Amino acid sequence: MPSAQCKKGPAIAGLALALWALSWLSSAGAADGPVARGKYLVRAGLCIACHTDYDNKGAELAGGYAIEVPFGIIYSTNITQDPETGIGRWSDEDFLRAMRKGVGRGGRHLFPAFPYTSFTNMTDGDILAIKAYLSTVRPVRKENRAPELTAPFGWRFLLAGWKWRYFEESPWTLDPDQSVQWNRGAYLVQAVTHCGECHTPRDWAGGLNREMLMAGAADGPEGETAPNITPHKATGVGDWSVEDMVELLKSSYKPDGDNVQGLMERVIVHGYEHMTDEDLTAIAVYLRSLPPIDHRVE
Ligand code: HEC
Ligand code: HEC
Repeated sequence: MPSAQCKKGPAIAGLALALWALSWLSSAGAADGPVARGKYLVRAGLCIACHTDYDNKGAELAGGYAIEVPFGIIYSTNITQDPETGIGRWSDEDFLRAMRKGVGRGGRHLFPAFPYTSFTNMTDGDILAIKAYLSTVRPVRKENRAPELTAPFGWRFLLAGWKWRYFEESPWTLDPDQSVQWNRGAYLVQAVTHCGECHTPRDWAGGLNREMLMAGAADGPEGETAPNITPHKATGVGDWSVEDMVELLKSSYKPDGDNVQGLMERVIVHGYEHMTDEDLTAIAVYLRSLPPIDHRVE
């Protein structure tokens, strides 16, 4: 039986690591206060990539980007400061509720095309930093477009049942047995950059199959195929080095000299390539530590 004293050592070391990592978590990416940190996170979390209708030269963050889902089309919304059509009147609590619980204005449930299933893992500090940055962005008046979804999937009230089955509000927890770099990577992947929302297969109702985390989705986001990015040698990216992964997230180039296209290119150009090398390296280190899953997607 280990004595109380033997137990204390690792516990204290773990606590020290946790405190260190937490301060690092909330400082990495921006040393200049919440607005700069929020700006960084709006790129890394793909808010700007998804809430801007680049194809039709839409204003930044004013929404209207059409997302194809298996049951129709859903449009991202205006998250500029416009008081009528955007989120100009939102309180901190309103914003936290949307990001953590997927509940929007008037208490309505939000469709998980908005990846709150990942953002629920973000720290309050990071969510409020995003809000602080958004409050500095020019307000744009632009009405939201209603989703065009077939019944019953378009029935917002049914989302309560979907959430009960597939969604858990869960602040991210640190793993004291892992390095600070690994923890930073885990936080960025699970809470912020949400790679798994595209690279994990879903079931018929759009719920993530968590046993197949990052193992690829043949019928993936917007009908595109998202490859297996677990470190499986034959079917995943097991032969990629950490540097290869960082290079992809910065330049769209794969180790074989090919470049990624479609949605992956979009999220790199409007998101990941703006991140620090330190953060991209942490992401790659975390991904390499995942269990390799044998799953070929084509
Ligand atoms: C993959 C696309 C996508 C990404 C990435 C995304 N959103 Fe959204 N977001 C949406 C969609 C679609 C909705 C509307 C959902 C609905 O109508 O039920 C939405 C709704 C919202 C809402 C609810 C308010 C409203 O206008 O209805 C907020 C707030 C929000 N997003 C903020 C963010 C922030 C902050 C980020 C980045 C951390 C982000 N979103 C990333 C697609 C996205
Ligand atoms: C919006 C959906 C989406 C998100 C978010 C996303 N990916 Fe992708 N990813 C894709 C698609 C689709 C492809 C396939 C691109 C192609 O075929 O050119 C891809 C390709 C890749 C590849 C190439 C793999 C190979 O074998 O060719 C890697 C590696 C990758 N993504 C890693 C990531 C990482 C790491 C993240 C998070 C930091 C991420 N992706 C987030 C959709 C996404």
